[in-house]
This record gives sequence, C-alpha cells and structure tokens, in this order.
Amino acid sequence: MADEVNEIRSRIDLADLIGQRVALKRVGKNWKGLCPFHDDRNPSFYVSPSIGRYRCFACGATGDAFTWVMQTQRVDFPEALEILAGIAGVRLSRQRRPDERSERQQHLAAMQAALEFFREELRRSKAARDYCARRGLDDAAIDEWELGYAPDVEAALATRLQRAGHSLAECASLFLVDRDPSGGFFDKFRGRLIFPIRNERGELVAFGGRLLGDGHPKYINSGDTPLFRKSRVLYGFPKARAAIQASGRAVLVEGYLDVIACHRADVRQAVASLGTSLTAEHAQLLRRWCEEVAILYDADEAGQKAADRAYEVLREAGFKVRFALMPAGEDPDTLLRTKGAAAVRQAVEQALPPTDFRIRRLAARVPPSDEAFWQQAFEILAEAESELDVERQVAFLAGLYPGVRDPAAAQNAIRRQLQRLRTGRARRRAPRPERETAPLAPKLSAAERTVFLSLLEPSLRTAAFEALRQEDAMETERGAALSRAIVVAFPQGIPDADPKVWMAQIEPEELRQEFADLVVDHQTKASARQIPDAIPEEFLLDALERLNASRQRRQIQRLKEEGLDDERLRELAERLKRAQQRKE
Ligand code: UTP
Ligand code: MN
Repeated sequence: MADEVNEIRSRIDLADLIGQRVALKRVGKNWKGLCPFHDDRNPSFYVSPSIGRYRCFACGATGDAFTWVMQTQRVDFPEALEILAGIAGVRLSRQRRPDERSERQQHLAAMQAALEFFREELRRSKAARDYCARRGLDDAAIDEWELGYAPDVEAALATRLQRAGHSLAECASLFLVDRDPSGGFFDKFRGRLIFPIRNERGELVAFGGRLLGDGHPKYINSGDTPLFRKSRVLYGFPKARAAIQASGRAVLVEGYLDVIACHRADVRQAVASLGTSLTAEHAQLLRRWCEEVAILYDADEAGQKAADRAYEVLREAGFKVRFALMPAGEDPDTLLRTKGAAAVRQAVEQALPPTDFRIRRLAARVPPSDEAFWQQAFEILAEAESELDVERQVAFLAGLYPGVRDPAAAQNAIRRQLQRLRTGRARRRAPRPERETAPLAPKLSAAERTVFLSLLEPSLRTAAFEALRQEDAMETERGAALSRAIVVAFPQGIPDADPKVWMAQIEPEELRQEFADLVVDHQTKASARQIPDAIPEEFLLDALERLNASRQRRQIQRLKEEGLDDERLRELAERLKRAQQRKE
C-alpha cells in the first residue's frame, strides 16, 4: 500500500487537482489563488506541485493531495485513496467491497439510478418529448443537460430503486421518494420534466422538476439533503466553470431554462440559483473563479427585486456587477426563442454598471416631473461606486432637471444636492481593509535554509544529508527539529525519488509543512528575481562552513557554562581547530 500511495503521489499534479476547484495563477514553479477554506479576498493560497503541498498563509490550511480530497469531498482516507488512484491510473491491490462503500457513495449511486430512470422515461414519453420540442429543447440539448421525465405514476421510481437494492429510507432522505401513511413509498417527482443538478465537482446531488403544463407548483426542487444544500449549489456551474474562469465573468440568470438558453446562445458563463435567492455562499463559490457578474433577470417587478437583492450579495462579496437590460416581458429563454442567440449575447455584452442601470430603470418608470423620481435618483447617486459613475449620470439627469434652462447650472444644482445628501449621512460603505499575504517567519537561519534547500538538488543531496546527520549540526531549535525529523525519516539516506514522494514521509506534519514553506518561499523569491531556484554548490559549502563555525562556538560556550578551567578550554579549542584543519 505504501508503494501505491507513493505511486499516486508522484503521478498526481496537485495544481491540476486543485485547479479543478480553485482558479489558480502561476507564480514561478507554484500557483496561487483564493483560499477555498475561508472567505478569501486576496489570493493567500499557494499550491506547490513540485513538492505536492498546498498552504493558505491567511487561514493556515495546509495539506497534500490526500487531505485535499478528504476535506473538499468530505471522505475518509481509504476513499480518498480510491478517488486519487482513479485519477492517477493506479490499480489498488485491495479494492473495497461494495458494502464498504461510504454512505455518500451509496447516495450518489441512488441519484445516478434515478437519473437513468428519468432519462429512459423521457425517451418513452411522447408528451414529455413534445413539451421539450415546444420549448426549443432538441435532442442535443436534452443530452447535454441530461434532461429526463418523471412519469405521472404513484411509485415507478420507488419500485425501480428498491429492485436495484437501494434503501428507500435512504432515498427518502435524498428527496427521491416519500413515505405514505400506510408505510409504503411514493415518488416525489411525478409528471414533471426533470433537470438534474450537479454540484461544483460535477456530482449529481439534486433534481428540479417542471410540470409539463400549467399548474401549481410550477417547479419543485430537491430540498436540502445529505448531498445537497440549495444555498450552495448553482445550476449549470460545472458546465460554466471553464468559461467563467477564461472570461473572468459569470452570467447570473433566474431559471433552469434560462441557463440552458444562454449556453445554447453561446453565453457559456450562465448559472442560476435554484428556487432561492442568491446567497453569500453562492457568491463565494463564484468568487473563486471570477471578479465580475452580469445579472440577467426577468424585466418584471419580481425579477428586478431579485436582481437588486443579488446585487447586494455580490457587491458584499467584492464583485464588479453589471446589469443586463431585458426587453419587457422576456427572460433569456423566451428571448432566445423569439429574437435569437444574438439578442441574448447582446443583452449580456451591453450590461450596464449598477448606477447607470438603476437610473435608466427609474427613468423608464417614474416621470422626472414627479418628486419621487428625484428622491430616488439621489439615493442611487449616493450609492454609486465611483465618481465617474456619478458624473455620467449627472450629465444625463441635468437634461431632465425641472425649471433650469442652462445645463451647466442644472448639473451644479444636482451636484450640490447630492453633496448635501452625502454629508447628511455617514458613509455607508467603509473601504475594506486589504489583507496582505503574510511573509513566512524566518525561524531557520540562512545557513540552515540553504542546507535544507540543497536536499532538493540531486547533486547536493548526499552532502547536505550527511551534514544533517552530524550531531549538533544546526544552530536554531527549528533547524535542529527539522534536521532530526529528516534523519529519522530516512535512515538509509534520502532516496533518489521525486521530492513530493519523499517529503511526504517527514513527520510530524508541522515540520513537513515548514520544509514545504521553505521551498515554496525560496522558489517564489527566485521567480520574482527571475533567477533559477537551484542552489549552487558554493552556497552549500559556504553554509556548511558557517554552521560548523557556529557549532564550535556553541561547544565552547557550553564548556564554559560547565565551569571548566581556562587550561582545559584552550586545549579543547586547539583540538577543534586541528579537527577542522584535517577536514579541509
Ligand atoms: P420562473 O417562474 O421565472 O420560471 O422561475 P422559468 O424559469 O422562466 O420557467 P418557465 O420558462 O416558466 O418554464 C425561475 C426559477 O425559479 C424557480 C425555478 O428554479 C425556476 O427556474 N422556481 C420557480 C421554483 O423553484 N418554483 C416555482 O414554483 C417557480
Ligand atoms: Mn422562462
């Protein structure tokens, strides 16, 4: 098993693995991004593929490929091992039996069985396929979005799941079936078009279902289950992720069909929250991948209220927000069907900054002769994100200002009034303090650092390791501890293997991480100065000499403390000197 673990370690590229969940930017040999373990606004999170470890300088999260999978997928070590073996293409000698599969795996398997059932049923149901056709969903869309149909039958899915060996009690906890008063089970989704919902890792965690006709409720969605929290999952996210990362922007829409319509119009950054308004957790998920969100909600009153709420959440999460103007009565899905893909793309491309959008929306609803218009206009200006936004609107509003002929005078009047409003209230939004990435505390001495870093150079490894083996070779406590840990981990010397494999043997984890930090810090500095990170041999020799000299000083100091007379001290000093000369 140790061999298998090592083989997996050497084959897994940690930047690839973590890059599936976190947007990473290259910094020399390493990568950095927003930390997924806390609410990060500045990239504090480093990934080092060469030594196979990650670290967040802000929240302190550290680990390797195994802890990454265990934490992000909430699985135990044996399961992480299986997952990583699958990615690395390593065959494990000991496979776990199916009944040993974790609860989560069993849940996912039940969801998968339900999906297969729904998809078969869609193929069989003419009514459902006709409905799809009416809504412009062709076979390609049905396949791409894995759409299905839940037949209008009491317990078709329940029967199927039970026959396949899934516990119906578990399936009830997954919102697939429910218990009737007589103790039997019935299907939760009946007579509905089914939209499978996948989480950010692409796991099938929930379903949404729409009635084929009118009726109430139009949609039902899985409630919160052991696999699914609706406040965290965005519909379409796994399909949209690459486009969101590439463009730095996400497009937020309201419904399942709007997401599908946008993707079909080649707006591939589209995602939607599911039967809930956008939450701070949704915003955090997007924040890992982009800096900007375009909100593309229905033009009706309810849509616009929801857009304003989403804006508050997104602004709080530090996004640059844009609003798309939708023609009255349309949503992206109807827009695609009535005006075509270009109209959907145009709505996104012409999205406006919040202030511009809100003033325009106001002007379309309230006449400027109305007192309420100006009241609201000033409210909007007072909340503007920048003076530039204000100035654009001041020019626009001056044209509407009542009773003033001279536009310059009107502009000044508006500015004065705005100024009064602003000083009248405390600034609502204080600037957020920027957190700096903390530098590593220099616990090791420079000479020690050089020796440890030399362990990564194949040509210097043996010399550096021999130095560690000498008693009392290091000059700081941390250096001595790390040195001991390395010597204990490799009684036969450091093997000629990949550093990310042998470094994983260093115990305890804290010292392993200290070593990893040292390497990443060194590589980052080298890449900033555009010099190679390899340690030159002279540096190692110089470091060894300095460590040697400081060891002698320590020995003399110790002898002094032990109270030896001067005669004996002189003799020992002579001996040390002769020993050193012999070495050279
Ligand atoms: P809409 O009412 O705008 O529906 O709800 P829609 O997406 O345009 O669907 P069609 O075009 O009428 O078929 C937007 C989203 O709100 C959630 C769904 O996620 C839906 O896609 N919703 C809506 C519910 O969860 N339950 C409902 O009863 C209605
Ligand atoms: Mn719609």
